[in-house]
Amino acid sequence: MTNTPHRKILVTSALPYANGAIHLGHLVEYIQTDIWVRFQKRQGHECYYVCADDAHGTPIMLRAQKEGITPETLIARVHTEHQADFADFAIGFDNYYSTHSPENQHFASLIYQGLKSKGHIIRKTIRQAYDPVKQMFLPDRFIRGECPKCGAADQYGDNCEKCGATYSPTDLKNAVSVISGAPPIEKDSEHLFVNLADFEVMLKEWIHSGSLQPEVQRKLNEWFESGLQAWDISRDAPYFGFEIPGESDKYFYVWLDAPIGYIASFRNLCDKQGLDFDEFWYDAKRTELYHFIGKDIVYFHTLFWPAMLNGGGFRSPNAVFVHGFLTVEGHKMSKSRGTFINARTYLNHLNPEYLRYYFAAKLGGSVDDVDLNLEDFLHRVNADLVGKVVNIASRCAGFITKRFDGNLAAQLPNAALYQDFLQQGTSIAQAYETREYHRAVREIMSLADRANQYIDEHKPWVIAKQPNQDAQLQAVCTQGLNLFYVLIGYLSPILPIMAKKVEQFLNISLTWQPVPLLNHSIQPFQPLMQRIEQAQIDAMLADSKENLTKIESSSPALAPIVPIADTISYEDFAKVDLRIAKILNAEHVEGAEKLLRLTLDIGEDKPRTVFAGIKEAYAPEQLINRLTVMVANLAPRKMRFGLSEGMVLAAGPGKNELFLLSPDTGAMPGMKVK
Ligand code: MSP
Ligand code: ZN
Repeated sequence: MTNTPHRKILVTSALPYANGAIHLGHLVEYIQTDIWVRFQKRQGHECYYVCADDAHGTPIMLRAQKEGITPETLIARVHTEHQADFADFAIGFDNYYSTHSPENQHFASLIYQGLKSKGHIIRKTIRQAYDPVKQMFLPDRFIRGECPKCGAADQYGDNCEKCGATYSPTDLKNAVSVISGAPPIEKDSEHLFVNLADFEVMLKEWIHSGSLQPEVQRKLNEWFESGLQAWDISRDAPYFGFEIPGESDKYFYVWLDAPIGYIASFRNLCDKQGLDFDEFWYDAKRTELYHFIGKDIVYFHTLFWPAMLNGGGFRSPNAVFVHGFLTVEGHKMSKSRGTFINARTYLNHLNPEYLRYYFAAKLGGSVDDVDLNLEDFLHRVNADLVGKVVNIASRCAGFITKRFDGNLAAQLPNAALYQDFLQQGTSIAQAYETREYHRAVREIMSLADRANQYIDEHKPWVIAKQPNQDAQLQAVCTQGLNLFYVLIGYLSPILPIMAKKVEQFLNISLTWQPVPLLNHSIQPFQPLMQRIEQAQIDAMLADSKENLTKIESSSPALAPIVPIADTISYEDFAKVDLRIAKILNAEHVEGAEKLLRLTLDIGEDKPRTVFAGIKEAYAPEQLINRLTVMVANLAPRKMRFGLSEGMVLAAGPGKNELFLLSPDTGAMPGMKVK
């Protein structure tokens, strides 16, 4: 263990939106943070890592409407998916919560009341675009039209992708609401603002006391020079979020309660584990607070957030650590190139630790973008992890197992070399601490080179064939394995899964500065990591493209051609009683490969039970609460699992390619379909 004093540290990553899947871009951040947290824990510090889904806002509300489910159902489903993705990438959150939580509501209103009572909240009437059909105000992203500058068609309400002009949505020509297609009108509404200028002195002080990256400092100076604008924190109904206390039909803008989610998630952890909440959020002398974020959300975290904390009487963060964006093959991730890769798609083809290692090898402490070059990725992982690190163990372990019954020698033949490895730990630790992971990796790999060099020079495979050289063979392999032991300790923040396997293999718990393993028995060596094959990468890219066509296959041109059936009379058709059904419940059926048991409300006294062959296409939780169409007068059918009282309608060839029909918003359970 190092002799640094015991630290108490709280760390966060930005909260991913609850309306989309985790992708490799996100993972730059979660992997960067996770490595830092694991490093701090490895140093023996008390360190907590909290995060949550960012569950509020217009896009989430609209997406739920589109799927015919409540926002609560949508965010619950995404929460499960996000957690599974993070767990499989070994992101070790101490708590993963949601901003749609009672704790968050409590702290959001606490901070708001604090700001209000100190006179920092002001009211202003603003004129905004409004969708007259949908009867709601439109965020800029939900208006499209022709660029006022260059005339490019179909541009967003705030900037033109063609010429780069920025403007306000009212400047767009022939603008339409993305939601209804109707031209937006303009409407006045009173909004609440935080008067950010009140915090200018406090913010400047914070910025100079903390350790912000120089690029971030520069950006902040620019913002100060152009003057701090009041921040609009209210949104009118309909909105998915928290209602503002003391107002009617006004909600907190999602970005108000999002960072408060850091506090709420930690509060929730404290309640589960009996930790001291106040120490972390009120006492900056005894604890440290760090936020890891991407470069697109600096304004929120370095201006709004410290001001909010201050207004609510909380401590300020020690630092905000900003990283750059992920590019793939030198370009922004692109859906059509197949380089917009979801976490799950990656996991279906490749080992998560390849990516953890690759990102670590490329990440410094700056806000520069990080490029994933797939050829370099394959080469680097194979050469470094498989070719160098794992190779040290695989060259030594076999002899120890076969010739010495798993026992290591009583002494190191080259204790000085081992000492050198330990000594390098200080510099590697410093690289981790300052987030210069590329330097940590470089230094660890040069130690791995030295370990391999040692083995090359002593050639255990040659000694093994010579008579009476047992002691020498055991000594050389003991040296090799002990060097490996130190290296894996250094790599453990980056490769926690492999580190676990090594702990089993060596029968130990890893530490930063270990005492050598002597007279110690180890387990037989198991392969710790396979090489990456080009075919795996190709398959992942193909899969990413396929996901895309699946998303966009609502275009009828892509549907396979099924011949139209013979004509029937209207009377024949009228015999079929189709009804709007609400799926109250959906569950797996024990022993059935394809079926889900659906409980359907079609406005009768008792819900219907229907067994539907849609299990390969839908998880039960995706279905609950949504509306669909059912054949209500189909003769009940006795099945092995129970009585099926009708049929739901879905389109598509079958298996996972099935699309349940759903009515437009407004339809009610029990309505007859004609
Ligand atoms: N919900 C907000 C954050 C609220 S924090 C109080 C948000 N969500 S996000 O899902 O869009 O992004 C989450 C984090 O991932 C952000 O820090 C963002 O910068 C980062 N990244 C998202 N896409 C990224 C890349 N392509 N590359 C690197 N990081 C990226 O913003
Ligand atoms: Zn333009």
